[in-house]
Amino acid sequence: MCGIVGILASRPVADILVDGLRRLEYRGYDSAGIATLVNGTIQTRRAVGKLNALAEKLAHEPLVGTVGIGHTRWATHGRPSVDNAHPHFSTQVAVVHNGIVENYHSLRVELEDKGHVFKSETDTESIAHLITDYLQQGLTPQAATAAALKRLEGAFALAIIFTGHEDLLIGARRGSPLAVGYGENEMYLGSDALALAPLTNRISYLEEGDWVELTPGKAVVHDEDGHIVERKIHQTNLSGAVIGKGEYRHFMLKEIFEQPVVIGDTMNALITAENKLSMPPMPFDWKEIPRLSIVACGTACYAGMVAKYWFEQLAGLPVDVDVASEFRYRESPMVKGGAMVVISQSGETADTLAALNYAKKHGQKILSVVNVQHSTIARQSDCVVPTLCGPEISVASTKAFTTQLTVLLCMALHAGVARSHISEAKASEILQALREIPAKINEVLREDHKIQELSQNLADAKDVLYLGRGLLFPLALEGALKLKEISYIHAEGYPAGELKHGPIALIDESMPVVVLAPHDALFEKTASNIQEVVARGGKVVMFTDKVGLANMPTKPFWVSVLPETHPVVMPILYSVPVQLLAYYTALAKGTDVDQPRNLAKSVTVE
Ligand code: G6P
Repeated sequence: MCGIVGILASRPVADILVDGLRRLEYRGYDSAGIATLVNGTIQTRRAVGKLNALAEKLAHEPLVGTVGIGHTRWATHGRPSVDNAHPHFSTQVAVVHNGIVENYHSLRVELEDKGHVFKSETDTESIAHLITDYLQQGLTPQAATAAALKRLEGAFALAIIFTGHEDLLIGARRGSPLAVGYGENEMYLGSDALALAPLTNRISYLEEGDWVELTPGKAVVHDEDGHIVERKIHQTNLSGAVIGKGEYRHFMLKEIFEQPVVIGDTMNALITAENKLSMPPMPFDWKEIPRLSIVACGTACYAGMVAKYWFEQLAGLPVDVDVASEFRYRESPMVKGGAMVVISQSGETADTLAALNYAKKHGQKILSVVNVQHSTIARQSDCVVPTLCGPEISVASTKAFTTQLTVLLCMALHAGVARSHISEAKASEILQALREIPAKINEVLREDHKIQELSQNLADAKDVLYLGRGLLFPLALEGALKLKEISYIHAEGYPAGELKHGPIALIDESMPVVVLAPHDALFEKTASNIQEVVARGGKVVMFTDKVGLANMPTKPFWVSVLPETHPVVMPILYSVPVQLLAYYTALAKGTDVDQPRNLAKSVTVE
């Protein structure tokens, strides 16, 4: 949430800052702004709305300057407005901030009493004035920053410039990520390595409590205790090329269509040509794990819920799944010798990271499923099994989810064989079914116009219910989440067996009920639920296969027939139609599919 960049160069930086922000826009798009030093003095340009509004402003009112900072905002304190847009500044300091300063109110009162004049409603402005106050007491920019950091409570990643100091850029990190980029006599700061990819592939990451002093060609990192420390420089393999939508209308559609390839890439890293697993060495022996905890947020958590079924059924391993924001404060007792699987596309979600730290503190080994290489969660895990889906730009997650499922299924099979709960032959049979998934997804994608037709039935609905059983229950939750996120239609996912315990009271002709009902062991039960909905005038949208359709006593109004597949891998296949259904419903409603209102992709504040 909120993206920040900083550049120290000997050429004008305004356009490069905006380019960096373009790559961070997924983190927030309520407003954007930049500040540079012009003849040693702070100058800003800020605009409400998406980055294009800032770019337009800069076209009419260009900004020179060779050192600068930039920000794309997801509003926390103060509505989106020019005054609340970052950078926040005094006559001496300009700051961009990702995170929340929890004690901002008391700082503001203290600083206003001393005569500092605030112009915004934000928590961030207190940082600018606090540093200014220390500068006015005669401290150097470095000492003033260090003193101010000690006074801040909460989470932050900061980039700071100072009046009269054209060769200084300071960054700081506590709780929110910050990368340092090394160029040819240029230095950079960015919320992630992707923002800096066109500028450099040499990246280091600040650790908790670090702050960094950048001068031309040099970075000096100080840790929380004020010691100068080295942070490893990584070579990233991110492309500097602009990530485009290609022939697709939206990133979300492009990413849905990329799934056959990226699922293939992800599984090829984990399965040999002979359908044997080749997982990275685990930090524990699966046989000795008494219980597994899985934590994640949003879509990643639904991947975790699917994984619970897999680990329990294929490995006989008891699993608890939690949303990270609940887990982190619940004081859950952790079993001795246990392990935690942490799932995150970005690797930076604040609650997920806090849950990881809790588990680590309580002796759990951490196995993570992460998409962004070198992200904080990846760096803090004992073992990372990566999803190889490439950058996911659309805020609504699609290809990250199906690649997470791919990795998690491989992990569960690995555990199952290691624990002798299933035979190698059984594991190979399932891996073969997994191998066939990309081709089956292609079959679904070739017929996406049929799902587009179905979506017309949802576009006018106010509420939609999604039902599924067993492995398809988490998919019902994911389908409902996707629809909510991008079409703004209220939707709920329910286990089909719970229908009679409440949601059936909602059924009438105006509420479509999406049922995920492949012909699996629980089909008959779900088919009965469909009859119960139909009997009450409900309109069912059924996703099933040929055998499922043939076994329906009365055909529901709307049906989509999907390829048949092994029951274990069904959640991966059924992800695609629910994604397409949400996408085409949002398209019919004309909402902003890739950047839905109020959301951000990387949730780095709790
Ligand atoms: C946000 C995004 C979701 C994502 C969730 C977890 O809510 O909008 O798409 O599933 O965060 O993000 P992570 O990066 O940890 O997977």
